[in-house]
Amino acid sequence: MLGNFCYSNPTRLHFGEDSMSSLKAELANYGKTVMLVYGGGSIKKNGIYDKVIEILTSCGKTIVEDAGVMPNPTVEKLYEGCKIARENNVDLILSVGGGSCCDYSKAVSVSAYCHEDPWEKYYIKFEDVSEDTKIIPVGCVLTMVGTGSEMNGGSVITNHESKLKVGHVFGDNVFPKFAILNPKFTYTLPKYQMVAGIFDIMSHIMEQYFSGSDDNTSDYIAEGLMRSLIHSSLVAVDNPEDYEARSNIMWTATWALNTLIAMGKSTDWMVHMIGHAIGVYTNATHGMTLSAVSLAYYRLICKYGIEKFKKFAVNVWNVDPENKSAEQIAEEGLCRMEEWMKEIGLVMNITELGVTEDMLDGIVESTEIKNGGYKTLTADEILKVLKDSMN
Ligand code: NZQ
Ligand code: ZN
Repeated sequence: MLGNFCYSNPTRLHFGEDSMSSLKAELANYGKTVMLVYGGGSIKKNGIYDKVIEILTSCGKTIVEDAGVMPNPTVEKLYEGCKIARENNVDLILSVGGGSCCDYSKAVSVSAYCHEDPWEKYYIKFEDVSEDTKIIPVGCVLTMVGTGSEMNGGSVITNHESKLKVGHVFGDNVFPKFAILNPKFTYTLPKYQMVAGIFDIMSHIMEQYFSGSDDNTSDYIAEGLMRSLIHSSLVAVDNPEDYEARSNIMWTATWALNTLIAMGKSTDWMVHMIGHAIGVYTNATHGMTLSAVSLAYYRLICKYGIEKFKKFAVNVWNVDPENKSAEQIAEEGLCRMEEWMKEIGLVMNITELGVTEDMLDGIVESTEIKNGGYKTLTADEILKVLKDSMN
């Protein structure tokens, strides 16, 4: 394991079909006023809203609702949430939904009492939360699986005016204090969202796996997570109510992005940077922005990290390496990934997401360039990835 690192994760997880029964005990740790954050109404249709209200009421909580958190939450919505949190002096923000609700809740938690403009401070200047800023604790009831937001400090906010979708990774003090993970809550997800989430998980693992050349335990864990995900995804696509598969996918999502597999590694994140830029132009579903560009990206950088791509092919996709060159093995691995992506029903090109030729230069400009992967991309290379992903 390279480098020096500190590992801790402060989020307490309650997992399983009975996990909601732990909410009461968690709520006892916080004051009377709970801000209930949710999205466009799925929790009202599937009954989760009623369950949460019943528990909050039985605990004697005052409920302040903040509904309508949209997928890819916006900065305008963030300002609105800050006002609600401040005016009601809330003691806990309870996010009931997917990554968008959870990310938004974390953003409100550090922004409600921030003395500066939170967009400028956290998302443009990437500053830490000031020591004298009150952070409102966040709890999470997860209903959509993919982002890992339930056990990390990530919070992605979209600013349509400045054409930027930016993630700030906050420290331990902003991670959700607790998360309730009931795999059955994900049964009502439309297939499109389920598979987008599955690819988001896969992408998080790949972003951390494709870097470095050392023998690293984090990579072995990553390979195990990918194998489990691929297996369970095929079962879940066939039968969305297969508890075993849905629970494995939920657990994999959390471990894919709760900082564990990044230990002792540099990380790539270029697929996400391109995906976020596509997101700000199209408002497309996050996981699909990743699936639509991944193959073009990995085929472009493959030669710079050929040994790892070989390992990926053999250890994750069971490619037989016998009598093949490294390039052939690597490409066979990517081909198997492509087959799997098509089989589970992912979006395979950006045209389908609403990207048109005239947007490409803007998307390139909006893409933040990172340098933790095998190749630091130039603007021309980002453009090539986009062009190769058009159909
Ligand atoms: O809004 P409602 O009506 O609840 O509907 C949602 C939404 O339309 C629906 N949904 C959620 N649970 C459901 C359900 N529908 C039926 N049954 C259920 N049980 O699903 C739709 C998508 O939800 P959303 O929360 O937007 O999806 P996701 O969890 O993928 O979150 C996406 C956001 O997270 C960010 C993304 O950029 C995007 O803004 N990310 C956050 C990360 C982090 N915190 O570390 C990392 C990720 O890479 C990602 O960038
Ligand atoms: Zn993601």
